Amino acid sequence: MKKILDLITAEMKAAFADCGYDEAYAKVTLSNRPDLCEYQCNGAMAAAKAYKKKPFDIASEAVAKLTGSHVFASVDAVMPGFINLKLNSDYLAEYVDGMAGQEQCGCERTENPMTIVVDYGGANVAKPLHVGHLRSAIIGESIKRMGRFLGHQVIGDVHLGDWGLQMGLIIEELKDRKPELPYFDPSFEGEYPKEAPFTIGELEEIYPAASAKAKSDEEFSTRAHDATLKLQNGFRPYRAIWQHIIEVSVADLKNNYGNLNVSFDLWKGESDAEPYIAGLIKELEDQGLAYESQGALVVDIAEEGDPKELPPCIVRKSDGAALYSTSDLGTIIEREKEIKPDWYIYLTDKRQELHFVQVFRVAKKAGFVSQDKKMSHLCFGTMNGKDGKPFKTRDGGVMRLETLISDISQAAYEKIMENRTVSEKEAEETSKIVGMAALKYGDLSNQASKDYVFDMDRFVSFEGNTGPYILYTIVRIKSILAKYQGIEDKYQGEEKILAAATEAEKDLMLQLSRYNEIMETGFTELAPHKICQYIYELANAFNRFYHDTKIITEEDKKRQASWVRLIGLAKDVLNACIGVLGIEAPERM
Ligand code: ARG
Repeated sequence: MKKILDLITAEMKAAFADCGYDEAYAKVTLSNRPDLCEYQCNGAMAAAKAYKKKPFDIASEAVAKLTGSHVFASVDAVMPGFINLKLNSDYLAEYVDGMAGQEQCGCERTENPMTIVVDYGGANVAKPLHVGHLRSAIIGESIKRMGRFLGHQVIGDVHLGDWGLQMGLIIEELKDRKPELPYFDPSFEGEYPKEAPFTIGELEEIYPAASAKAKSDEEFSTRAHDATLKLQNGFRPYRAIWQHIIEVSVADLKNNYGNLNVSFDLWKGESDAEPYIAGLIKELEDQGLAYESQGALVVDIAEEGDPKELPPCIVRKSDGAALYSTSDLGTIIEREKEIKPDWYIYLTDKRQELHFVQVFRVAKKAGFVSQDKKMSHLCFGTMNGKDGKPFKTRDGGVMRLETLISDISQAAYEKIMENRTVSEKEAEETSKIVGMAALKYGDLSNQASKDYVFDMDRFVSFEGNTGPYILYTIVRIKSILAKYQGIEDKYQGEEKILAAATEAEKDLMLQLSRYNEIMETGFTELAPHKICQYIYELANAFNRFYHDTKIITEEDKKRQASWVRLIGLAKDVLNACIGVLGIEAPERM
């Protein structure tokens, strides 16, 4: 369906053009004075300068053309030259009624689908997940779903950190603990065991132990570096251990991400870039882009107009090792070969901002991607505890996802039990869904680039701008719809949404009619918080309407059927929106 804002703008454009003004001035926006009007056009102000007239006169001329239009209930010119608009209730009801009959409630799939890679999650194999990984997973999953909803071909890649020093650390620690393993026997020539020589529990304990040891034990640290190099150079026994580490970690990660309802199409990692590294370095050298600086190989990326001097991108360290940037460049080359994305979207925390500027610029300079390739780094702030420092779990250690999820589910359980509408058993099941909504919405409702405070009590509250409030609204609509099903004397004619009878009802329709536009802006701006803001306003509009409307006992059956269709649409729109946020609603709560 066409966006309502576009339909309104088309009317305004025609009016401006009719009066002999450039229609480019006829820009309509949502009103910032909802007490006065629903939409507004401030274009007369700008047009006044160009046509050397009074803004109010231009506004009045346009208003005269629009009076009597079936789209508007009122069109007013107000000093100094604003045009205030209110929609005709019949027109609005018809638009909203049209939504109710359409697939995806009238939010159409794009005619020009793009192939988009969303690189998110970014867990490091064998290292603990931290809050940044949690945010990356939650926001990235939502971006992926938003893109798909609009009809794009979106590929989610977890891009594991699976090639770094942690591997050497684990190998050496394992050698110290279990020297009898065949991987450490130079004379061993057979097949290595299929079974990993450790469980995920052990692995989780080995890494921090090895990492701590490397800090105080220089000899161990050197060995770990050597082991990492050997692994990267293809040393067979270390490759075999590496394979075990990957298998064991990935199984655990799949489980963790699964609990978050986050899933990836590709489980690739930094190691997959390895085959491209030598070639890309040579290419950068051949093109004269890479040069030696203090033993390292670097590429300048500074451009005219940069607000400050940006440091060059290091592609090879002085000891000959490749780095994070090199592996991201290699990954781009691989993706160009295998996926040919129209748009690259990466999600990491803000600290990696410079890294991605460097990688994108080098990739473009070297022609690994075309000059105009869309490449975005959606960088986010930190999830802090109430003390303002990066969030830690109760024991003060690094975040364990299981603990976080079980803590928030428990808090949700207590909230659900306060209402006493469901049994203990149902509350327990529902608490996982509600807890997940609390966690995700608590994150997504903030503009990604900002830090936010993880406030469990607020997040699980059924009131205010929270996930549970949205779910509660959906559940409430479901229960009204179920009650209506039980009514015998339903309206027999065709169900249609009638013109709003009250301000609250009209407001609900106005909110609903904005839906397809919000879905589109949310995605193009990579801004899930805009969808959260929208569903919060929509839920509020529904609850105000519901407060003063007795749907089930209404005598006018035609009106009753109209309301049922209207709230059914509200439920579908809310569901579609939480769907793209990666949240689901329970049946009851
Ligand atoms: N593993 C990285 C980290 O923990 C995040 C990876 C992000 N993706 C990328 N292509 N660099 O910080």
